[in-house]
Amino acid sequence: MLYSISHQQWQADRDDQAAAALEMGNIVYFPNLAFALLPEEMPLISSRLADGLAKNISFNSQTQTLKGIAGNALETHAINNLMQRYAQYSTQLLQTLIPQYTQALQIGRTSLRLVEIAGRRAASYKKDDTRLHVDAFPASPTQGLRILRVFCNINPNGKPRLWHVGESFEKVAATFLPRIRRSVPGSARLLHALKITKSRRSYYDHIMLHMHDGMKKDMCYQKSVQHTEIAFPPASTWMVYTDQVSHAALAGQHLLEQTFYLPVHVMQEPARSPLRVLEKMTNTQLVQ
Ligand code: SIN
Ligand code: FE
Repeated sequence: MLYSISHQQWQADRDDQAAAALEMGNIVYFPNLAFALLPEEMPLISSRLADGLAKNISFNSQTQTLKGIAGNALETHAINNLMQRYAQYSTQLLQTLIPQYTQALQIGRTSLRLVEIAGRRAASYKKDDTRLHVDAFPASPTQGLRILRVFCNINPNGKPRLWHVGESFEKVAATFLPRIRRSVPGSARLLHALKITKSRRSYYDHIMLHMHDGMKKDMCYQKSVQHTEIAFPPASTWMVYTDQVSHAALAGQHLLEQTFYLPVHVMQEPARSPLRVLEKMTNTQLVQ
């Protein structure tokens, strides 16, 4: 489940097994690879800066905009820099590790998660990441692109990030796909026209979102499904295809995360992608 690479230094090397490990649904884990905070950034790592409305502070490196922050101008500027550096760090890490992904890699949001997960009240079960799920975003359809995320635990007090990892994507899909109805004709166009989604929600996105919601809603499933507990210590980095790997975050505070999108054709084995697995199961082309 974990494919560990024990680099000490900031830069990683190319690793020809890393892509295969990720695509099989493993977590590529760097126990000794930390994103370095500057001494003046240490005081910023505090839940005080989270605005209380959003789960995370999020940064769009394309537009250089920050959301969800409650700090003053100086703090906001410093957080902006920190997140920009993390976006660069994680991009460089991924490009060095798996150069064959580089050509088609799209950078998504950077997020800084300063709120303790244990005991946090989620606004709804759909937003409750302490329940096992595969990632799918209601407002941001991927049209079949993979979601690859790079995490770094930056907790200054020795606290690990505690995850559960559930069963394989094939097993998750076997349970939840039969429960999903087709979308209402015209609904994807309407959601887009109303700007509820940023682009047209494909049938693939419809299925993934209902799988995400269905898993989180089913408490019987949550309690009975096999899972493994993993504790990621501070100053460790890990990457995982979160659209494929069933995961839940149970406890921990202070995490950086960078999202990447990747078309299935650059994978070593596109057949392992949720898109191809679901297309095989439904015998339907899921993205037009
Ligand atoms: C998630 O992606 O579901 C949460 C991961 C985390 O915040 O540790
Ligand atoms: Fe998630």
